[in-house]
Amino acid sequence: MAFDTIITGGMVATASDTYQADVAIEGDQVVALGRNLPRDNAKRIIEASGKYVIPGGIDVHTHLDMPFGGTTSADDFETGTRAAAFGGTTTLIDFAIQYKGQTLRTAFDTWMNKAASKACTDYAFHCIVTDLPDAQLQEMPQLVREGVTSFKLFMAYPGVFMLDDASIFKALRSSAKTGAMVCMHAENGGAIDVIVQQALAEGKTAPKYHALTRPTTAEAEAVARAIALAEMAGAPIYIVHLSCNEALEKVREARDRGLPVYAETCPQYLYLSLDNFDVPGFEGAKYVFTPPLREKWHQEKLWNGLKHDHLQVVSTDHCPFCFKDQKQLGVGDFTKIPNGGPGVEHRLSLIFSGGVVGKRFSINRFVELVSTTPAKLFGLYPRKGTIAVGSDADLVIFDPRREHTISAKTHHMRVDYSMFEGIKVTGTPDVVLSRGRVIVANGEFQGRPGQGEFIKRATQ
Ligand code: URP
Ligand code: ZN
Ligand code: ZN
Repeated sequence: MAFDTIITGGMVATASDTYQADVAIEGDQVVALGRNLPRDNAKRIIEASGKYVIPGGIDVHTHLDMPFGGTTSADDFETGTRAAAFGGTTTLIDFAIQYKGQTLRTAFDTWMNKAASKACTDYAFHCIVTDLPDAQLQEMPQLVREGVTSFKLFMAYPGVFMLDDASIFKALRSSAKTGAMVCMHAENGGAIDVIVQQALAEGKTAPKYHALTRPTTAEAEAVARAIALAEMAGAPIYIVHLSCNEALEKVREARDRGLPVYAETCPQYLYLSLDNFDVPGFEGAKYVFTPPLREKWHQEKLWNGLKHDHLQVVSTDHCPFCFKDQKQLGVGDFTKIPNGGPGVEHRLSLIFSGGVVGKRFSINRFVELVSTTPAKLFGLYPRKGTIAVGSDADLVIFDPRREHTISAKTHHMRVDYSMFEGIKVTGTPDVVLSRGRVIVANGEFQGRPGQGEFIKRATQ
């Protein structure tokens, strides 16, 4: 028997097991796992001694080529997926936005066109719904049939993205019928807007006021309301970018009651805090995203939530805007700073470093948080999110000992700063394969734009 590729000598780590095995690949898939697999005629042998072999990372929250705040996020599907690949992420779920008055189909078609010839890794879409008259409500099941099996709704950004409770409830009822998942941006946008207007009237215009006008209670209230609406509708719900302990408590209480409630957090809430605004001039704009950074003590609560499965996923909410040309739109008015930060490249290293090296959880829990649970919740499993015979050969050979200091000077994201500048991580991807093809090795990109495929996702 001859395989296309054999990864030999590595320690295979999935969400459930850790064991020494060779991994054999033919075409797009893993075809065998075992000790001393025959390698005589293999076209390629990859040596992985001393390293982990893990399933490719799945980042279920990115915003590539996204118009927002009068500009467009700085990474497109080529640069964003390439940076993701350097970081060991081989599948992204991005967001196709339906603007008011548009059909959901227009959103889906628009984002398919943005990705098609550019993506270097596989990708899928959630659909952001900002307007839900009956015609669009009826479109939801059609999108689900085409593999767009999740919808993001906003309880924040009044007048732009925010949906009223009635529309949210209708969308949840539709999801309960079709098996789709609603992803919720949970912040009380109405209350926040009042606080923001008052701050501006008082001349509080610096970047840090973006954070100081979005209290944790506004997030916790919206999380509780989202959960209540989902419970009434009989639907599961997934809370995106959860940032604080008060919101986490709402999720934990609901899960203790047995409700199908899930939540993600992001590396920025685990590593950064309000202290990051203690920088000169306008530099705090680098940390303006929504929900905002919180007091430092929340970080350990979130790590603990990841450890105990009160939080199920780590995504990035990668939404990069250059400091020099884009964040500057908000000089003199924090409400005009494009919201978002870059992170797609460093998720695996940051979570391995803080989680596994930091002795907060095991390698298996790490894999579960960055790959397996994202795959299961969003209809990609078992094709992706694990290493098994018949799964896509999206694989990362991960060096658990190699150290790296994160810097904009060396990262691959198309943005002129790093939120994590100077943070030293232990554990980095060494070789990355997407459906059997090596796309990163020896610090070089070996894939090509357009090789990523749209993945039709299943329902719950
Ligand atoms: O500030 C953020 N998070 N920007 C991206 C849009 C969103 O709400 O996820
Ligand atoms: Zn959001
Ligand atoms: Zn987002």
